[in-house]
This record gives sequence, C-alpha cells and structure tokens, in this order.
Amino acid sequence: MAAAGQPELIVVADADALARTAAERVTARIAANPGRVAICLTGGSSPKKLYQLLGGDPWRGNIPWDRVHWFIGDERFVPASDPLNNMSVARATFLDRCAPADHIHPIPTATGGPDQSAEAYAHALQSFYGAARLDPTKPLFDMVLMGAGPDGHTASLFPGYPAVEETERWVVGVPKANVAPLVPRVSLTLPVLASCREMLFEIAGHDKQAILTRLLNGENLPAVRARSNGETVWLVDQAALPEGIRGGR
Ligand code: 6PG
Repeated sequence: MAAAGQPELIVVADADALARTAAERVTARIAANPGRVAICLTGGSSPKKLYQLLGGDPWRGNIPWDRVHWFIGDERFVPASDPLNNMSVARATFLDRCAPADHIHPIPTATGGPDQSAEAYAHALQSFYGAARLDPTKPLFDMVLMGAGPDGHTASLFPGYPAVEETERWVVGVPKANVAPLVPRVSLTLPVLASCREMLFEIAGHDKQAILTRLLNGENLPAVRARSNGETVWLVDQAALPEGIRGGR
C-alpha cells in the first residue's frame, strides 16, 4: 500500500488483465458502499474493455444498478450522436443496457458552448452532492476512472492550460484541445476529481511507455497532479512499463 496521497502502482500482464483488475476494483468500490454510489467514468480508448466487462457476465449481475450513478470526467464538445462523444461510447458499450436512464449523467453538449456545458454540469454535480462546496470528509465520487494522454493530460486538463490551476469551479470549458480529437472540451477540475474514495488510472500498451516514464519520474503534468483525496492507483500493463522495470515486478 502506498503512502497517503502517493499513487500505488499495480502492474498486470496485459490489457485483458488490466480490464479485469479494473472491473474487480470498480465492483469492490460499489460493494463497499451500501448506499447511493457515484462512479465517474472517463473517455478515450483505454476504458472500453472495462466497459464491455461491466456490461456482461459475471460483472453485470454483481452490480446493484438501482443504486449506482454514472458521471463522466470530461467530454468532447460534440453532439451526443457523434462517435467521439465520451458518454455516448459508455452508453453504447454498457450503460444503456444496464443502468436506469436517470442514473446516467452526461455532460450536456447541446448548449451555446463549452462554458455553458461546464456550468450546467457543475449545477448537476452540486445538486447530486447536495452542496456547492466540497466537504473533505464527504467524497463526491466513490470512484473516478482516468486515462493519461501522450502529453500527460488527464480528463481534458492539458499541460500548461489554466484549467489545470482551477481551484474554485467544479467544471470548466476548454476551448482548444492539445491533442486529437481537436475539438473543444469540457472537464471536471482537479479538486472535484480528487473528491473520491479511489482514483483509478488505466494505462496500457506500448504507446504509453514514453508518457508513463515521465509520470513515474514525477514530472509536473496534469496526470501526475491528479490525485484522489483517498486512494490513487496507477494500473498499468507490462507493455506500458519503461524497459528498465519491465518484467521486474
Ligand atoms: C478524452 C479523455 C482523455 C483520455 C486520455 C487517454 O476525452 O480523450 O477522457 O483524458 O483518457 O487521452 O486516452 P486513451 O485511452 O485513448 O489513450
């Protein structure tokens, strides 16, 4: 177990093992809370296998769908019908088949712009939470899923962008992305993402080796700064590990 605040590194064999381990952790978090559960999903390609698992046997039968709410940590500012829309991918992969419709909380994108979407989602989150200020003793989310981009971004918090420094607003509009898809984004901010019992990064594949090396070196990147107030886990597969430590764990 890592020291409080420090990420715990868990290395598994490959992308399939990574998705299974993530599914075990998600269902364990759900089981640990007998009341209303909130899970914050992520976009990108990394969580797709996990989403497939959660929507199929045996995982699906182990989730009490009537008490779990599903949010998203960032969104591409595209219509819900666009294949780039993060929540639409999660919906199509498992949520629409499994979760009650009013337990799925997408970031609205049929608005005047990313700032309006951010404001609307902040209100939705605050009304779910029951306050407009986060109480460190009362996490907003049971679990927050995250990914890391090639530039060290996480959610839609890109290195050097003012959104990374935001301490007041819960959700921000990001007019321009640093990496593809180059569409405006909407992102939860670091303090809001931190308000969880567990933050779980999924980092898999050889393409992630360069950025994982930088993250492990503790560079000042959003994916390093994103930490849960509870437990932070970097779940990685062997292919993503830097050469020097591959196979050594
Ligand atoms: C998004 C994401 C983003 C993603 C990383 C990793 O909207 O793109 O939420 O933060 O998690 O870019 O993406 P991959 O999983 O595709 O590598």
